[in-house]
Amino acid sequence: MNLSNILNKAQMKRCNLSRDELIYLLALEDQADLARLHEAAYAVKTKRLGRQVSLRGLIEMGNICAKDCLYCGIRRSNKNTERYHLGAAEVIRMAEWAYRENYGSVVIQSGEIESDEHTEIIAKVLKKIAEFSNGEMGVTLSLGEQEKEVFAYWRQAGAHRYLLRIETSSPELYRRLHPADHSFKRRYECLQYLRELGYQVGSGVMSGLPGQSHGDLADDLIFFRDLDIDMIGMGPYIPHPDTPLGAGLAVTPELSSRQLAVGLKMVAAARLYLHNVNIAAATALQALADNGRELGLLAGANVIMPNVTDLAYRKNYQLYAGKPCLEENAAHCRGCLAARVAGVGESILWGERGDSPRFFERITAESPLPAALSHIDSTIEYRKA
Ligand code: 5AD
Ligand code: FES
Repeated sequence: MNLSNILNKAQMKRCNLSRDELIYLLALEDQADLARLHEAAYAVKTKRLGRQVSLRGLIEMGNICAKDCLYCGIRRSNKNTERYHLGAAEVIRMAEWAYRENYGSVVIQSGEIESDEHTEIIAKVLKKIAEFSNGEMGVTLSLGEQEKEVFAYWRQAGAHRYLLRIETSSPELYRRLHPADHSFKRRYECLQYLRELGYQVGSGVMSGLPGQSHGDLADDLIFFRDLDIDMIGMGPYIPHPDTPLGAGLAVTPELSSRQLAVGLKMVAAARLYLHNVNIAAATALQALADNGRELGLLAGANVIMPNVTDLAYRKNYQLYAGKPCLEENAAHCRGCLAARVAGVGESILWGERGDSPRFFERITAESPLPAALSHIDSTIEYRKA
């Protein structure tokens, strides 16, 4: 195995690398090798999607969360965060602002809540967005695990896409990062429901987690392939002081550069492996380096999710330490972003939905659902607490 061969092979067609070859890429450390990896991924991105970036205006609707993930700053046991939840009118106002500012898509994200009231609020928002944008605006939901009927209801109300990170495709690592009542199996089933219901399905993982191997990360990419994921939102793990996993872990410059490097490697490897999926340059990259998202673009990402949430709420939606843009309002972010994207020679697709090309390729080919995941042992017991 050598780098040139692997990069050439990857560029030829989708999913053209073995697990060992993916591991080889993910284990690269040498700066010159990493530069070649990023360049090869950027070449695939340019060929498949042009030198263009799609935007999603990100609305952080609320930080009330029923989950207690050991790494996440808005976990329900964290008493140091002020909780908020926006009503339909406020979310609609932010979405309207984004539409007027020529964002073609929005993402509505919140902590995981399952309640009839929440279900209805989201449906109301979706119908309103479809109404004021004449059905033009893309809407991605990122609202965690839900019953299949709820996903179906929201789909009918106008949601096109759903983002649900699997966090890690290793059931074993998943178990170590979550309390016993969090179920990998349920999360996985939710992704299948979303696909069945005709959503463009996004998923993602965190990279650089404690105890995560290059093999685990390669398996994450194979998981995306097996599920035929349309869009990927993934980023490096960043310790949060008010969490069991992050307590006492300082975000030192060494840690930042290590996490940034692994985050960028994953973006590049995902682009080289999956070619025409949408890949977001996660905000976590920007938390680690001021130009983190631009580096993400140059490593093969093609989507950026600028925050369009009102300033007053942003400080409470801290999933990890060092979240950027806490003091910048949405209008400021818009200008800042355009300059940054232009700075790396890319242009923004203002006013376009920016759907995943892979989604249309798949529904045209009408390929069947994968029967089983290649690397996950379905006999594993998913114990409830
Ligand atoms: N570091 C990086 N990403 C995190 N997320 C949650 N906590 C952290 C953290 N400490 C990510 C998870 C979640 C998304 C909304 O934020 O992947 O799905
Ligand atoms: Fe928010 Fe730059 S994107 S200030």
